[in-house]
Amino acid sequence: MSTITNLVYLFSAVLFYFGLKNLGSPKTARRGNLLAMLAMLVAVLITLLDQKILDFTYIIVGLVVGAAIGAVASKRVQMTAMPQMVALFNGFGGVASALVASSEYFQLGGHLEGSVLGTIGVSVLIGTITLTGSVVAFAKLQGIMKGAPITFAGQQFVNALLILTAIGLGALLIMDPTNWMLLLGIIVLAGVLGITSVIPIGGADMPVVISLLNSYSGLAAAATGFVISNNVLIISGALVGASGIILTNIMCVAMNRSLANVLFAAVGSDGGAASGGSGEQKQVTRYTAQDAGVMLDNAQSVIIVPGYGLAVAQAQHVLQEVAQILMDRGMDVKYAIHPVAGRMPGHMNVLLAEANVSYDLLFEMDAINDDFKNTDVVLVIGANDVTNPVARDKKDSALYGMPILNVDHARSVMIVKRSLSVGFAGEDNPLFYDEKTMMLFGDAKKMVTEIAQVLKG
Ligand code: TAP
Repeated sequence: MSTITNLVYLFSAVLFYFGLKNLGSPKTARRGNLLAMLAMLVAVLITLLDQKILDFTYIIVGLVVGAAIGAVASKRVQMTAMPQMVALFNGFGGVASALVASSEYFQLGGHLEGSVLGTIGVSVLIGTITLTGSVVAFAKLQGIMKGAPITFAGQQFVNALLILTAIGLGALLIMDPTNWMLLLGIIVLAGVLGITSVIPIGGADMPVVISLLNSYSGLAAAATGFVISNNVLIISGALVGASGIILTNIMCVAMNRSLANVLFAAVGSDGGAASGGSGEQKQVTRYTAQDAGVMLDNAQSVIIVPGYGLAVAQAQHVLQEVAQILMDRGMDVKYAIHPVAGRMPGHMNVLLAEANVSYDLLFEMDAINDDFKNTDVVLVIGANDVTNPVARDKKDSALYGMPILNVDHARSVMIVKRSLSVGFAGEDNPLFYDEKTMMLFGDAKKMVTEIAQVLKG
């Protein structure tokens, strides 16, 4: 590889680094995305110029078809379906790495050093697990498969056996390099392992699994980078691997669960499809947009808590309108963002940014949790689990230990949702029946629009 190519790769790696760094804050995230895209473009272009791998006709056809599929998919996907789209992309990344590593093996007929053969085994193993695991994650989130955990006796033993056997086949491959059946064996075992390790995980934990699989896809790419001696693949794969595992950890901390608990405890409901919690029999008073408008008009401080329902209803724009009316009247308005509100990391930030909500109004859980007790009204829009007080003390609850927003500490609470249905974790929420809570039943967009009309008089 020429010095120029390596220098361009270095430039691309630096762009990747700054891209990731900029993704750390909502204010700079767009720039981060652009930098990372540019980094990828530079890396792909220089690789194509440097290596005469294929006829350019194939490359151009591939580029056009791939770009068209990507553009249509990203235009058409709903924000709420983004996790399953990311799952698919992770799967594609994993299989791409596995294919490149396998083709290197078959091209050189196995005449490779032991270390390279071992790395091919690692790439194929992780890449194939990522593919089949991601397909299962996609199917669960898309409702093609049941979201509830699927378990069977001895599942963890079977998984351990599969991985140990695959590693054993890798060792045999190093000793018997031309026996391609061994590589095929690794692929089959890894494919099964991806399925058996993701099916026992509940729909509610899927975002964590997707982030972990994202990390795996990076590791597979880095391993493939070693196989074909491509520096930018090693660096970008390592960045994806590391950032994916950091994100996985952030989500686990936000839910107060260990990764082992997420992977092996088979917790989680049917992916949020549940309806009608046990609370349906309890008494709640139904309030109207008129009541909410009057209450808000008399408040001095308001905290808005957005959740998954806000995204489903696409109520962010009209919510911003309500917040603006209140601020124009001199009210103190803030948004409280729980780290796992919605269905993916940063979901609420992206949603509110779409409605041009100023970043300065967004406060993370730790920064705002002490403010609830001095707040007149908390307006909860389509959020449930992240406000559920059972997380504090109900030991047998799926939410137990998850840090929540201290919504119940405020002077009054308004909750906009369509029914008393449970949230993603499948837990009834005692906040609905609290005497200081006003339940506003209805679609978030419709209800917030009505509140806006009342406020405008
Ligand atoms: P949820 O607890 O799932 O509650 C969302 C609520 O929105 C539902 O109870 C639903 O009630 C309501 N809703 C749905 N459509 C609506 C509409 N059109 N209008 C009004 N309301 C609507 O959401 P959350 O509070 O955002 O919590 C997120 C959950 O996802 C947590 O359990 C969290 O652990 C899990 N999770 C998230 C992540 C990330 S990174 N975000 C990662 C892993 C797990 P109705 O049906 O009654 O309307």
